[in-house]
Amino acid sequence: MHPFDAVRARSVVKTFGDVIALDGVDLDVAAGQIHGLVGPNGAGKTTLLGLVLGLAAADAGTLEILGMPMGRALSVADGVAGFVDGPGLYPTLTARQNLMTLLALRGERTSRSREVDELLGRVGLAEVSGDAVRGFSLGMRQRLGLAAALLGGPRLLVLDEPANGLDPAGRRQVHDVLTDLADSGATVVLSSHRMDDLASLCDEVTLLSAGRVVFSGPVHKLAAESGELDYRLITSDPEGARGVADGTPSLRRVTARNGSRQGDEQALVVRGPEAALDRLVAQLIGAGIAIRELGPVVPPLEAAFLALTGTEADINAEETTR
Ligand SMILES: Nc1ncnc2c1ncn2[C@@H]1O[C@H](COP(=O)(O)OP(=O)(O)O)[C@@H](O)[C@H]1O
Ligand SMILES: [Mg+2]
Repeated sequence: MHPFDAVRARSVVKTFGDVIALDGVDLDVAAGQIHGLVGPNGAGKTTLLGLVLGLAAADAGTLEILGMPMGRALSVADGVAGFVDGPGLYPTLTARQNLMTLLALRGERTSRSREVDELLGRVGLAEVSGDAVRGFSLGMRQRLGLAAALLGGPRLLVLDEPANGLDPAGRRQVHDVLTDLADSGATVVLSSHRMDDLASLCDEVTLLSAGRVVFSGPVHKLAAESGELDYRLITSDPEGARGVADGTPSLRRVTARNGSRQGDEQALVVRGPEAALDRLVAQLIGAGIAIRELGPVVPPLEAAFLALTGTEADINAEETTR
């Protein structure tokens, strides 16, 4: 359908003094795709998006944006919009005035005021369109930044951690806007330090860890990278279930580290391949033990993220950031 890559990076290196922020990164984003960059803090996501936006130049490697090679000169390529590290907004102006000012700067003043109102509605800011941006929450700023980026009708939209500060309703709104944009043929590249932000939205993800790509491809393939998972079972007979689990080949009982919750003294947590879990379930049923709950302790995508990036922190950080 789309003959070219909207983003094509090869062996991109970017250093800041002694810090190697990007260490030979390849990235392919097909036109019309929503592509997620995932990785823990410091992985290099913002640096890479900054290169795509032309805010900095790579030290080595090549980068093509919308089919054009990025040179040494710092400039946003034609058809590209977005921001890293939060959008640049005028705090004393209202949301609507911010967008109108952007249009005015491009010499388009009044002719598009209907479009501005429509955009503000789409990102869920209609009711606060007359309020000064100074009083906006992080999530409201993110949404206004998105509207500002959409004003120019970008063919490639670049967003750094757009889900930061958004409540679930805001998140859904942003998802819808980005999905509509991609449906119209534009390409979206966005980042997050959380896998679950991106899983439902992205066609493909690239997982960065310490400046290197540790995975790139469709989300369902990433889930398959998680290897052995921990599964948590609640049964009608905890003691009997433990006995059955101990007799199941390739399966071992473990003590859950993450995801402890109420009733866990009754829970059985086992680790092993899916096939071994299937055998356990069959044997439990055969033994007349009812299974009341069964699921992975950590969702497969999150488990793959943790395994490939070698981090544990994000899962535990989850409660505090929401
Ligand atoms: N302007 C800068 N000066 C010095 N170091 C930087 C700068 N920008 C990023 N870094 C370093 O580069 C690495 C990658 O950072 P960044 O791209 O911001 O990661 P992420 O967005 O994934 O959290 C980090 O070690 C960070 O400290
Ligand atoms: Mg960042």
